[in-house]
Amino acid sequence: MIPYGKQTIDEEDINAVVETLKSDYLTTGPKVKEFEKELAQKLNFKFVVVVSSGTAALHLASICLLNQGDKVITTPNSFLSTSNSILYQKAKPVFVDISENGLIDLDLVEQKLQKENIQALYLVSFSGHPIDDKKVKYLKEKYGVKVLYDNAHFIGKDKEVCDIATYSFHPVKHITTFEGGAIATNSEKIYKKLLMLRNHGMYKDNSMYPWEYKMVELGYNYRLTDVACAMGLSQLKKLDYFQNRRHEIVKYYHKNLPKFITPLYDYNENSSYHLFVVRYSFKDFEQKAKFFNEMRKKGIALQYHYIPINSQPFYQKKGYKFSKKEFPKMNKYYLEAFSLPIYPSLIQKEQNYVIESLVEVLNSI
Ligand SMILES: Cc1ncc(COP(=O)(O)O)c(C=O)c1O
Repeated sequence: MIPYGKQTIDEEDINAVVETLKSDYLTTGPKVKEFEKELAQKLNFKFVVVVSSGTAALHLASICLLNQGDKVITTPNSFLSTSNSILYQKAKPVFVDISENGLIDLDLVEQKLQKENIQALYLVSFSGHPIDDKKVKYLKEKYGVKVLYDNAHFIGKDKEVCDIATYSFHPVKHITTFEGGAIATNSEKIYKKLLMLRNHGMYKDNSMYPWEYKMVELGYNYRLTDVACAMGLSQLKKLDYFQNRRHEIVKYYHKNLPKFITPLYDYNENSSYHLFVVRYSFKDFEQKAKFFNEMRKKGIALQYHYIPINSQPFYQKKGYKFSKKEFPKMNKYYLEAFSLPIYPSLIQKEQNYVIESLVEVLNSI
């Protein structure tokens, strides 16, 4: 089966993991700090805190940024965690339609900011396409909102616009630590709070007694193990190679896909290309489902990203609506879009097979 995404693991990764398994520290040891330091450099942030998942990263970031009752603008086109993390803090997600590139429409965001009292923006660099930093900086300054970038799909140098950026190291992402995530910030205050929140809200204080620790926040156990961090460090060494491979794959799709399958946006050298999304004008969801099933019979597991979050039963129950009128772009995208296989070890022969199969199946349904 050719999946839409998967990890790339070599002997070096395996050796790094085994070496750490044989060391004194399986968790809370030196690999954690080492991984955080390397990540901070790669991502261009002063501080990075690694955690057990991208969702944990969003949760802790939300504790730092949001208060109960805050209104937070976000996108329907993301994985559930982006919006769920707003709900964890008893704040309210406010959904805004997407633009042609699959990211939230920042002009519509500004219209919302003019009408409603909004405290924060939770923006997603969907598929790896960078967020328009210039526009976000303008919105942040003009409307005094806090800004979080959910960079689960993006890995690159940040331009210091957001207050916090979060990352995921799930196997399909740019690098993997099995499960894992990270929170990046330039604020020392937020950094110190995150370190405590990741570890039960406590810190060691041996000033009175050698065994003493103090709990000052309601925290969690969201620690990432040393074994996972050793894997992350090893993966990070190959990040440039992984990114080059993703870009080669994308260029090949652009060159060889037939005209009736259109990439979501023109080739973008600054995209991290976690996903490669294309569009096709399906008649209805039944035809799209038939297409997915036929492709699966050919050994190609396509995927669709994402079902609009505000259309999920839980959100509907909470009173959210996903109407054609309010979300025309997301509606159209939902019917037309799907993600093609993209991962560093995908070879050209497989890519050719994917393209041939697409043409054959789309012509037959
Ligand atoms: C945009 C986005 N945000 C958050 C997450 C959550 O990351 P994790 O699976 O590491 O919890 C994902 C993962 O799929 C994602 O794609």
